[in-house]
Amino acid sequence: MLPRGLFVHGMRSMELPLVALTGAGISAESGVPTFRGSRGLWRDYKPQDLATPEAFRRDPGLVWDWYDWRREVIADCQPNAAHRTLAHIEEKIDDFLVVTQNVDGLHQAAGSRRVLELHGNIWRLRCTHCDYGREDRRVPLPDLPPHCPHCRGLMRPDVVWFGEALPRAAMEAAWSAAANCRTMLVVGTSAVVEPAASLPREARRNNARLIEFNPARTPVSRSADEVFREPAGEALPRWWARMGAGKRR
Ligand code: OAD
Repeated sequence: MLPRGLFVHGMRSMELPLVALTGAGISAESGVPTFRGSRGLWRDYKPQDLATPEAFRRDPGLVWDWYDWRREVIADCQPNAAHRTLAHIEEKIDDFLVVTQNVDGLHQAAGSRRVLELHGNIWRLRCTHCDYGREDRRVPLPDLPPHCPHCRGLMRPDVVWFGEALPRAAMEAAWSAAANCRTMLVVGTSAVVEPAASLPREARRNNARLIEFNPARTPVSRSADEVFREPAGEALPRWWARMGAGKRR
């Protein structure tokens, strides 16, 4: 399902001047932990215990405790200068699109409206039985694990877990955006989780410029035309200012 508020006008035939692919690193300066790296979540937790359908079937309470904790962490976080820059770019460039692997909703909180969420959103819950879904921003959630108000089925976070397919429409739109953009900003992603990791390759294959914002080297780095080895909150506003913020490109 395409996220609410998304407007991808004539995506298939349109050449997007600019697409941003974002990952956990863009939210790092907001205080949201990343997954990989020395302070990443996957150092202390195992994805197979917490972020797979099997883990949820085995122990929904454990999985929900972890997601409830992450919701509490994210609830205290505000968008940073990198999120705000992307929201500002959207105001200036009609066809700009953010494709994110993040589930934290900070792009929307910064004001971005055209956001494709490839891995879902941690603030949405959906029923495992009848597919009823709703946004619920309460932290902590009053009853864990939560149950569906309609059928009493178990609710789950509306996020994509390892081994699950990505939302088809969002992935198709992202793929099309990658194939048709002139420039892709690759911001704060380790670019190792498929299929999102293939998007910069698809953009490159179609002769787009790749510009990476990441303090660490990634598989994207070698094919990037420009690399900013800095926190995105510093480099992205500077890059945008250099591009002539305010001018339509
Ligand atoms: P990762 O945690 O794998 O990578 C975060 C990247 O952000 C790393 O390359 C860091 O170097 C970089 N980084 C850290 N601080 C930064 C900063 N201030 N500015 C810019 N970059 C910074 O996160 P993702 O690539 O988003 O999936 O991970 C992809 C997916 O793997 C996630 O969506 C999640 C995870 O397991 C699922 O849970 C299904």
